[in-house]
Amino acid sequence: MTTPNEQRPAGSTQENETNTTLASDAPSAEKTKDYSRGLPFTGHEHAIVLENDEYAAKFVPFLPEVGFVREAVFFGEQNVPMDCDLDEADEDPSVCVHVAVYHKVTMETVAVGRILSDGHIGRVSVLKAHRGKGLGNMVMRALLKCPDLPKTVWLGSQEYAIPFYEKLGFTVYGDMFYDGDTAMIPHYHMKLTRE
Ligand SMILES: CC(C)(COP(=O)(O)OP(=O)(O)OC[C@H]1O[C@@H](n2cnc3c(N)ncnc32)[C@H](O)[C@@H]1OP(=O)(O)O)[C@@H](O)C(=O)NCCC(=O)NCCS
Repeated sequence: MTTPNEQRPAGSTQENETNTTLASDAPSAEKTKDYSRGLPFTGHEHAIVLENDEYAAKFVPFLPEVGFVREAVFFGEQNVPMDCDLDEADEDPSVCVHVAVYHKVTMETVAVGRILSDGHIGRVSVLKAHRGKGLGNMVMRALLKCPDLPKTVWLGSQEYAIPFYEKLGFTVYGDMFYDGDTAMIPHYHMKLTRE
């Protein structure tokens, strides 16, 4: 799910190109897999970034449960090939921070997202059964707490998700584009310049 047509907005100053897709050696997933429950959260050594009574969000490396949520959502629901979703940035903590949101009692990991050092947010996803509970919003607010980000952060939003990001203050810029590897999904660039 790299986006070669994507362009950084002005204000996003870091130039390192980190979203190159590599051939993935991830196991091919079965569509028959049960994606209704998330894998148990394993990143116990990490500090909580945000929490409410039920859920907590942490900055984590590319834990298996992060990949599982993305597999369930992007492959299981949206038919994005896993070798498009996974890239070398995922496993490079010098350029990529992941957020995982998990249920504090069941320990299920139910929502994830990532931010790259150039301010590029992506892979924001919530397991289907857990949507509409503010967890996508929690992922985004946690990502925006990542230290040392450029002032302007940006993303490529699927068209239907634009209102979700607008509620967080993001605005659309530029024309519609098709994601490089999932050509049939219309996307728009969105950006947020923080104080
Ligand atoms: C987009 C997605 C992350 C939203 O997650 P979610 O947990 O359901 O969203 P939240 O419950 O945190 O919603 C936060 C706010 O955005 C609104 N919102 C969420 N999705 C929306 C949508 N598709 N259209 C309009 N508003 C939406 C909610 O109504 C809520 O508004 P409120 O604060 O006024 O109540 C989720 O639908 C998802 O994982 N989709 C599949 C993966 C995907 O397409 N990701 C985006 C890639 S660009």
